Amino acid sequence: MSVDLFEPFQLGDLTLSNRMVMAPMTRNRADEHNAVTPLTVTYYQQRATAGLIITEATQVSPAGVGYPATPGIHSETQVTAWRKVTDAVHALGGRIFLQLWYTGRISHPSLLPDNATPVSASAIRPDGQAVTYSGMQDYVTPRALNIEEIPHIVAQFKHGATQAKRAGFDGVEVHAGNGYLIDQFLRDGSNHRSDAYGGNLPNRMRLLNEVLDAICEVWPAQRVGVRFSPENKFNSMSDSDPQAHFGYFTAQLSTRKLAYLHVLEGDMQGKTSAMNYRELRIKFAGPYMANNGYDRVRAETALRGNAADLIAIGVPFLANPDLVRRYKEDLPLNTADQASFYGGNEHGYTDYPFYKKETEVA
Ligand SMILES: Cc1cc2nc3c(=O)[nH]c(=O)nc-3n(C[C@H](O)[C@H](O)[C@H](O)COP(=O)(O)O)c2cc1C
Repeated sequence: MSVDLFEPFQLGDLTLSNRMVMAPMTRNRADEHNAVTPLTVTYYQQRATAGLIITEATQVSPAGVGYPATPGIHSETQVTAWRKVTDAVHALGGRIFLQLWYTGRISHPSLLPDNATPVSASAIRPDGQAVTYSGMQDYVTPRALNIEEIPHIVAQFKHGATQAKRAGFDGVEVHAGNGYLIDQFLRDGSNHRSDAYGGNLPNRMRLLNEVLDAICEVWPAQRVGVRFSPENKFNSMSDSDPQAHFGYFTAQLSTRKLAYLHVLEGDMQGKTSAMNYRELRIKFAGPYMANNGYDRVRAETALRGNAADLIAIGVPFLANPDLVRRYKEDLPLNTADQASFYGGNEHGYTDYPFYKKETEVA
């Protein structure tokens, strides 16, 4: 089957105008209430021609925060602020899912209520430093969650999903990648538990399954996506056999009739990969969304080779609000400014220019 990047895609009951998805990207520009601002409304609206936008990771609870100035979805103020984003994107015919986030050990007491110790699957300190309001600080050794606390984590995800519905999102993506709390349970480098949430694969997947069960009480499964990053070393992560382990997790997810499986293929920073992702794609019965270093040519090759149904694109969407048009018409791209990725004002956020041909200049 030969498909085109610019053809519509049927995602459950939603029709996407094309197969280009804006990948989730944290931009650290939320206000003092961890609410998105009018600038964020502009940022997402500028990118509404993506077939689907997946928002920046958004904490489901004050206890799930891991960085300065990231948005939440737990308070009414945050819901009201996000509603302006979803309305603006919908007004242009776009679709938008909220990425639900709980950072776990990738946090710091100074960011958490009552200076709490961050929680994780196990008390294993990640290498590296947390970004805090007073600069970079070494990660601390997290506290392993007690088994009795896990229902509360699940309830926080469910609350976030409920709030996302009230904020007008088309669906939610569970962030089960990049070394955050759910991923800390999935991968064996960070999960050394010996109870029902550690050890074998069903146990390591239990938290994700419980989160999905709870969210699917609020949303139909066809509006719920999951993100994995089996090989990503980011945030001090490792797994002894990602091919086998994520093959199992994927096969389990396959029975749920989810909106999609979103996979960050390979390592985010090195852009290297040792895994066979086609095996995951085959194991998953629903739509497979590929990500990591896809440009137009690679995206089209993947779609035509049936290696993916949707392509999520990060940095090029950050720097090119009209990326769909630029890819379609083979126009040159803006260069991304790394210095303004995380935090700041409109510079590097809403001021990337739309393409103008000489003939288009008024
Ligand atoms: C500035 C920035 C912020 C990111 N924030 C998130 C995030 O909030 N959630 C997430 O799952 N991935 C996040 N990522 C990873 C991207 O979604 C994506 O996987 C990565 O950029 C690779 O895709 P690309 O090569 O198309 O850019 C972020 C990446 C960048 C560059």
